[in-house]
Amino acid sequence: MNPFTKFQKWYESECITTDTLIPSACCLSTTGTDGYPNARFVSLKELKDEQFIITGPMDSRKGNELRNKPRAALTFWWPATGRQVRVQGDVRQIDIFEADRYFSERSRESQIVSWASKQGKPLKNNDSLKEQFNHYSNLHANKQVPRPENWGGWEILPIRIEFLEFDANRYHNRVLYVKSIDGWHPQNLQP
Ligand SMILES: Cc1cc2nc3c(=O)[nH]c(=O)nc-3n(C[C@H](O)[C@H](O)[C@H](O)COP(=O)(O)O)c2cc1C
Repeated sequence: MNPFTKFQKWYESECITTDTLIPSACCLSTTGTDGYPNARFVSLKELKDEQFIITGPMDSRKGNELRNKPRAALTFWWPATGRQVRVQGDVRQIDIFEADRYFSERSRESQIVSWASKQGKPLKNNDSLKEQFNHYSNLHANKQVPRPENWGGWEILPIRIEFLEFDANRYHNRVLYVKSIDGWHPQNLQP
């Protein structure tokens, strides 16, 4: 089975059969500008045209790291089905039209937060953030909230995708798909 079809099936099983809070949550690993690996959870927006799409402020730490070194890993852990998926790939920024589309799909509150919060900058106190929230809420009242210029997304073009099914006896079932010029090649791996 093609690794993208397999990913979609596994993702859907986690969404359908369980009450996992955020099945789209995945750990995004980047290379820090100081050379240390850096990781944080993000939400997968979509698997589109064999690319994994994530979004957020582009002037954040992750944004700077991805600009500096456009390679990343995404790691999913789906507890209800006991499955892990690891993706490694090259990163490209999505275009402004796609960014607009993903931004428009956010809740109004999240859209306002995208204006109010300067992600990763020092926070004086919660009141100052609430003030910013109210300010942008009033500014954009009764109209569509536009996308802040610094808000966008990235597409991860995978070169490797590994699927692991957890086994209580530790005989985890692992399959690594590697991309080559003639397609994707699966290889079973020892647990
Ligand atoms: C489940 C979950 C989903 C998240 N989704 C996103 C997301 O889609 N985009 C985002 O910018 N931050 C998201 N965050 C917040 C990030 O973990 C992180 O705090 C933020 O992106 C700042 O990271 P950075 O300083 O490395 O840029 C999410 C956090 C959690 C726990």
